[in-house]
Amino acid sequence: MSRKMKNKVIPNLRIERIAAEGKCVAHHEGKVVFVQNTAPGDLVDVRINRGKSSFMEGEAIRFHEYSKDRIEPFCSHFGTCGGCKWQHINYDLQKNYKRQQVVDQFERIAKVEIPEVLPILGSAKTQYYRNKLDFTFSNNRWLTREEINSGAQFERNSLGFHIPKMFDKIIDIDHCYLQGNISNEVRIAVRDFALEQSLSFYDIRNQVGLLRNLIIRTTSTGESMVIVQFGEDDTVSVNKVMEFLHQKFPQITSLLYIINLKKNETFNDLDVVTSSGKDYIEEEMEGLKFRIGPKSFYQTNSEQAYELYKVAREFADLQGDEVVFDLYTGTGTIANFVAKNAKQVIGIEYVEAAIEDAKLNAKVNGIENTQFYAGDLKDILTEDFVRNHPKPDIVITDPPRAGMHEDVVKMLLKLEAPKIVYVSCNPATQARDVAWLSEKYSVDKIQPVDMFPQTYHVENVVRLTLKP
Ligand SMILES: C[S@@+](CC[C@H](N)C(=O)[O-])C[C@H]1O[C@@H](n2cnc3c(N)ncnc32)[C@H](O)[C@@H]1O
Repeated sequence: MSRKMKNKVIPNLRIERIAAEGKCVAHHEGKVVFVQNTAPGDLVDVRINRGKSSFMEGEAIRFHEYSKDRIEPFCSHFGTCGGCKWQHINYDLQKNYKRQQVVDQFERIAKVEIPEVLPILGSAKTQYYRNKLDFTFSNNRWLTREEINSGAQFERNSLGFHIPKMFDKIIDIDHCYLQGNISNEVRIAVRDFALEQSLSFYDIRNQVGLLRNLIIRTTSTGESMVIVQFGEDDTVSVNKVMEFLHQKFPQITSLLYIINLKKNETFNDLDVVTSSGKDYIEEEMEGLKFRIGPKSFYQTNSEQAYELYKVAREFADLQGDEVVFDLYTGTGTIANFVAKNAKQVIGIEYVEAAIEDAKLNAKVNGIENTQFYAGDLKDILTEDFVRNHPKPDIVITDPPRAGMHEDVVKMLLKLEAPKIVYVSCNPATQARDVAWLSEKYSVDKIQPVDMFPQTYHVENVVRLTLKP
């Protein structure tokens, strides 16, 4: 960006719409301007902080008019916390923008003929809908401008969420509207106990400190899993924290901890120790039980996951005699969910522990027609694998945000399953993959589902059918 533009203030910009990834869009002299923390309809002065030849990015520094569609955010952390950035937009509009994102991504990236995108399936719960939250302990609490200007001394130890784009700053959370059950009480109790006991909170820059991370998972059946990650192997202090949690919250059904001396917080490669209770929690859907271990993925909005799976099942339209491949199967939830409507279901997933859970889930539910394989999809779904397994009539695929690896898409094109049901949490990568698949497939149904109210995220299910 030219130096002239940086910090330049553009007055009186009208925010027009919301584009991909929740960015609010305005125009100035023919160029797109993305403006943070605004809503369509706002009239603002914008300070530019980044720009390229085709677009600029900036922040609103003065509001002349507020959009008539704005509503009062319900959370005191709104504006600082990166969690629920759309609280100022009413839910009906949020849903429209999400659906529009799907339309835009398919027009911009997939560039294939598509049917009318169906109205988005809204979430019955718009607060307290998550079953999992991940909090970080830090000795570097984010201070507001008022706190800094006050000159007073503040407690810097904190437990909460990362400030967007700042890896070492954590906002201390008083109340989080994302997870119900015992989530808020547990977080506050652990934080207060650690402060009282002068236990050290993690120093992310210097990679030292006892308390590192807290994960809380809950289920609709009332079970809960609490996992504490420690940055030091200090048995006395670890036991102190775990004993405190056990005494204070006897209702926690799975109380676990991890000693993590690595540089990052991922723990797929670390031992998880059961401090008390079981080493898993159980979710239920249509009478099926799903066992979820500490390392396993489970859709984070359980009630909406059920709606999502129903869409996938309806799109698959199984008659009972089909072979189904469930790619990126996680704990085999979709595979086991559709098993009774199919002849055989084969699930593939790279987290080994999730595959163990998937097999257990099948066993617990008396399902005998599912088979699961652990490994990277591109390495498992090979010519050899295809030769040694029945050809799928339907492929259900539910990859992570990055979408499918090119080799997986190539293999799907070779496999030529009559139908592919593609579930995605990122319509941009989904649209890219659909463009690749369009060599042999056409899109005949598109159903967005809202799993994450108050955020720009949108889940989308697409059905592809093999061209004649
Ligand atoms: C969006 S989740 C879907 C899980 C499952 N379908 C469900 O609904 O619970 C994506 C899954 O893909 C797995 N995964 C990510 N990359 C993978 C890869 N390269 N090969 C196999 N599995 C992968 C993740 O571990 C995760 O379980």
